[in-house]
Amino acid sequence: MASQRGFTLWFSGLSGAGKTTLSNEVEKELRRLDMNVEHLDGDIVRKYLSRDLGFTKEDRAKNIERVTFVASLLTKYGVATLVSFISPYRNKRREAREMIGTFIMVYVKCPVDVCETRDVKGLYEKARRGEIEYFTGVTDPYEEPEDAEIVVETDKLNPTQCVETILDYLEKNGYIDRGLDFANLME
Ligand code: ADX
Repeated sequence: MASQRGFTLWFSGLSGAGKTTLSNEVEKELRRLDMNVEHLDGDIVRKYLSRDLGFTKEDRAKNIERVTFVASLLTKYGVATLVSFISPYRNKRREAREMIGTFIMVYVKCPVDVCETRDVKGLYEKARRGEIEYFTGVTDPYEEPEDAEIVVETDKLNPTQCVETILDYLEKNGYIDRGLDFANLME
C-alpha cells in the first residue's frame, strides 16, 4: 500500500469467545497485505505490561488504560493495531474510542454457556469451583457493546466466515485494499 492509514481494531468479548483466534487470523491477512501491524493481546500484555494487575474492576480499568495509551500511539503513527481484551466495561471502551480516534469495535459475541463448554483454558471450571475470583461471565460482569461496528457471532459462524466479515468491513471502509483476488480468478 502507498500510505497506510492507522486504525485500531478492538476485539471485545468473553473469555473463550474467540478474540485471540480471530485477531490472529486478521493479523495474518494484514501482514500478507504488507501492512505495518501490531497486535496487543490480553494474555501477552498481562505477561509483560500488566504483570502487576489482577481482575478487580480497578485492575481491569488500569489494564485497559495502558493498552488504550499504547494503541493510540500506534494508531497515530499509521499502524494497523489489533487489540484483543475482554474489556468488559463500557465506560473504559468508550474512553478508548475517544482517545484512539480511528477506532473500530468488533464484538466477538458468544453465549457464556457455549464459552463454558469450550473452556479452552479450563478457567470456567475453576471459576465454578470457586478457585478463581471475579471471573467474567460467572462471578464478574460483561457489559455488551452497543456501539460495535462489527458483530461476529462465533457460535453461529465458523472462524473463516467471521474473519471474512471483519476484512469485508475494513475493505468497504477503505482501511485495507485487497485488490483483485488472483487466487480466485485462476480457478
Ligand atoms: S480484561 O478484563 O482486563 O480486559 P484481559 O483480556 O486482559 O481481561 O485478560 C483476560 C484473560 O485472563 C482471560 O482470557 C483468561 O485467560 C485470563 N483470566 C484469568 N483470570 C481471569 C478472570 N478472573 N476473569 C477473566 N479472565 C481471567
